[in-house]
Amino acid sequence: MTRFPSLLLVLIAVSISVSSGCTSVPDPDYLPIVPRPVTVELKAGAYQFSGDSGFWVQDAELLSTAELFSGEFSTPTGWAFDVSDEKGDIELALNSELGPEAYTLDVDANGVRIMGGDAAGAFYGLQSLRQMLPPHIDAPVLAEGVEWSVPFSHINDAPRFSYRGLHLDVGRNFFDVDFVKSYIDTMARYKFNRFHWHLTEDQGWRIEIDSYPLLTEVGAWRKETVVEKNLDPYIGDGIPHGGFYTKDQVRDVIAYAAQRHVMIIPEIEMPGHAGAALAAYPELGCLPGPYEVKTTWGIQSDIFCPSETTFSFLTTVLDEVAELFPGPYIHIGGDEVPKEQWEQSPVAQEVIRREGLADEHELQSWFIRRIEKHLNSRNKNLIGWDEILEGGLAPNATVMSWRGTEGGIAAAREGNNVIMTPTNYSYFDFYQGDPETEPLAMNWAKRIITLDTVYTFEPIPDVLTADEQKYIIGAQANLWTEYISTPEYVEYMVWPRATALSEVVWSPKSHRDIDDFYLRLGGNLPHLEHLGINYRIPERLDPLYDQSASGETM
Ligand code: ACM
Repeated sequence: MTRFPSLLLVLIAVSISVSSGCTSVPDPDYLPIVPRPVTVELKAGAYQFSGDSGFWVQDAELLSTAELFSGEFSTPTGWAFDVSDEKGDIELALNSELGPEAYTLDVDANGVRIMGGDAAGAFYGLQSLRQMLPPHIDAPVLAEGVEWSVPFSHINDAPRFSYRGLHLDVGRNFFDVDFVKSYIDTMARYKFNRFHWHLTEDQGWRIEIDSYPLLTEVGAWRKETVVEKNLDPYIGDGIPHGGFYTKDQVRDVIAYAAQRHVMIIPEIEMPGHAGAALAAYPELGCLPGPYEVKTTWGIQSDIFCPSETTFSFLTTVLDEVAELFPGPYIHIGGDEVPKEQWEQSPVAQEVIRREGLADEHELQSWFIRRIEKHLNSRNKNLIGWDEILEGGLAPNATVMSWRGTEGGIAAAREGNNVIMTPTNYSYFDFYQGDPETEPLAMNWAKRIITLDTVYTFEPIPDVLTADEQKYIIGAQANLWTEYISTPEYVEYMVWPRATALSEVVWSPKSHRDIDDFYLRLGGNLPHLEHLGINYRIPERLDPLYDQSASGETM
């Protein structure tokens, strides 16, 4: 169905690129750390680990991080990597003089010393250490004959942005807990710290809600799916699709993410993208129904009616979600809301009259503000797509700017926090190469988002003043899954484009250098190889790709 490079081709390509002598071969004196650290000082010599190596943990707060890496390092090395408060050759400690998520890493003849500004900082120091080790460190089996050494060095590192996100749409296609964990694990290796879990859609409701069991009994399942882009005339595949996460599974994923210093942002879409919820509870719509869980993509006109029944439903759902997720944010969507049903609905028109609203856009703002007030009363902050600006922004809302950066600019000028996720740089559902040779992807406006495109993304618009710029808290890439139905396909669309984004959100802007990036990426991709991630081989690192034909230079 899809045309991925076979694993064998990937292995051949990587081994050739490492031995062919082309400039993409990592320099032996070059640390293949991605994202690029703030400063790296390489020194002569290397420290060799042995069967006696172990973690020396100076602070109880760092125990769970040490235990995680101890487990991961022991499989490929065959050594225990014990964790203890007694002297060992991988020392982990906190240093309150470093900022949040910052770390220093020193390697000398005594071993490795990582100081974290906090536990996340120590975790990121260990992620950098992992990338300095032979890539077999990520092998799922014993890697015999490998010399486990790291070069003497000093690294000083800290993130540029506090919000470094990746999103996954599990509504259009459902992905199981094991894959969601793997996605989180991989993103944390590249120092992403926010996982935006898009849990509800027209095509499926994916989270168990005790008060409304039909959301998952009915709303988690659709009878079939449109085949590729065959909307008119419609062709369905005849194959039922669905799935959802129980609350216990959600708790398990939250704990897994927390150990990797990843906060989860759950998204419950409203008032649009509500098709699956309406199929379960038709009384939440403006029309009598019945509704079905959608089998096609695109913007759908079935939306929540602004009735008291709907608010009672949504606040109950949000209360259950707020109780489940410990993080401070809940995303409520707010994008792509056709207003026809509200225009025709006596219920919606009565709210407009009663509240003195100008039109349906102000009704949407009123809707979001009412939800924001409720979330704030539960100590949660609201995030919404940039449509929540239309008709007036909710006072404490954080805006995710997806239709370009304009929404983000407007929100920052109003003093609201902003996460930049513009379609033209950070939509990983779009093609990343020639549509003739790539698997099916989004081709809206015929836009192709290459690895290089992502690398050139700058989240802070020049037009903002220094004061306004402070409201841009970070950036995120989104993976909508209309055409992406398997874990391998997800990985192919995300990796390595997300490595480019990791440099955008972590590394200093002044360090942005595409040649340097490719040099490090060439040495880094074998880690993904050993992890079994189905990444796309970048043209520039692919010896089988004719660079001269594309006009690219090595
Ligand atoms: C979006 O892509 N509709 C947020």
